[in-house]
Amino acid sequence: MAMKAEIRDFRHEKPEEDKTKNIGLRGVKVADTKISDVDGEHGVLIYRGYRIEELARNSTFEETAYLLLHDALPTAGQLQEFSRGLLDARRLPGFVLESLKRLPAQARPMDVLQASVPLLATADPDLSLETREANVAKAVRLIARVAGIVSAWHRIRNGLEPLPSDDALSHAGNFLWQLAGKKPDPETARDLDIALVLHADHSFNASTFACREVVSTQAHMYAGVAAGVGALSGSLHGGANAQVMKMLTELQNEGDVQGWVRKQLDSDRKIMGMGHAVYKTTDPRAKFLKEMGERLGKKFGQKQWYRLSTEIEEAAVSEFEKRGKTTIKPNVDFYSAPVYHLMGIPGDLMTPVFAVARVSGWTAHIIEEKFAEAQGKPALYRPSSDYIGNYCGKIGCSYVPVEKRT
Ligand SMILES: CC(C)(COP(=O)(O)OP(=O)(O)OC[C@H]1O[C@@H](n2cnc3c(N)ncnc32)[C@H](O)[C@@H]1OP(=O)(O)O)[C@@H](O)C(=O)NCCC(=O)NCCS
Repeated sequence: MAMKAEIRDFRHEKPEEDKTKNIGLRGVKVADTKISDVDGEHGVLIYRGYRIEELARNSTFEETAYLLLHDALPTAGQLQEFSRGLLDARRLPGFVLESLKRLPAQARPMDVLQASVPLLATADPDLSLETREANVAKAVRLIARVAGIVSAWHRIRNGLEPLPSDDALSHAGNFLWQLAGKKPDPETARDLDIALVLHADHSFNASTFACREVVSTQAHMYAGVAAGVGALSGSLHGGANAQVMKMLTELQNEGDVQGWVRKQLDSDRKIMGMGHAVYKTTDPRAKFLKEMGERLGKKFGQKQWYRLSTEIEEAAVSEFEKRGKTTIKPNVDFYSAPVYHLMGIPGDLMTPVFAVARVSGWTAHIIEEKFAEAQGKPALYRPSSDYIGNYCGKIGCSYVPVEKRT
């Protein structure tokens, strides 16, 4: 009888009001970090103290990756050594290339990338060495090889052999070469380099948080990065750039963009590449990519993409404002899609190109998490939840054998 008195059914009880619950952790601070910061009100993004505009104008992807991993800009010698490490790690292990050749040609590039990361782990000589130095070495291999997987997969799925790297080219330039089999002009290589700098890190975004959460269990770096690739693939995160390109392609002959936008919003559909969980004003990366999109459109005689993108932007912002949503502006994916398209990158490789850049941020965050570089000691992530499912009291529901269930 005492047991019965304890039984309660809280199925219809409302759990205690908690403003941090069921909102996708928006505004919930889960850790300290020294790597990057997003000021969503003012549209400011910094990596290790440096504003993104400053880095995009003056730095390179290699130097920015070093900055993210080491907390300071490198000296000339340190940069040379770091870049040498990236060059040396470019070649993919033979069995990884063989594995790629066995995959169906229609496999999604983000799935191929996610499947390849654990394969790369098996070839890493430092895999079980958990020092900071060994993790930086793993990061260098991952940064070099994520790019290699994306370009190799594109060749393989088109029935072509992957190309050897060109050591005279930068990370960005070599990626374009290994992808297309044509040496990029130096300006295009530099534009991709800038785009990689802009995408390299973004504080506790979904994929970075996934990486950090996984390695908080003391799993190795590759396990964390595989989780990051999975999280990035979704269309609310990195997958948005591919959706933007789809939208631009579909709207090429649309005479009434405003009407199309209105219809989308009336049917509760998203305008991809617009809005951000943190930015409540224009994303600083989008400003940069917008200018690049205009410039590349002129250079390649394809001004239509910039024209259409700005038309969608204006129509969407004005429709959002009419609906009282004044903070939804273009994000990084809105203008990266036409920029990548003009560089010859196919739509379904745009999210993998995001990963090519973001792996530098992921690995920096993994190291910070593993070695508690911004907190007192490492802590396993283990949030809690309110259970609102069936409840039969502390004794639990009685099990009914399958043959007796109706
Ligand atoms: C990124 C995103 C998930 C942020 O979501 P969020 O933090 O929940 O967004 P907000 O709180 O700013 O959204 C508030 C409202 O605006 C709407 N909204 C936000 N972005 C929108 C968009 N791109 N298109 C249409 N409506 C949008 C939301 O549906 C919500 O509407 P509701 O209040 O009527 O339910 C969201 O803006 C989005 O889905 N954008 C499109 C996908 C994209 O570009 N992702 C890449 C991000 S870098």
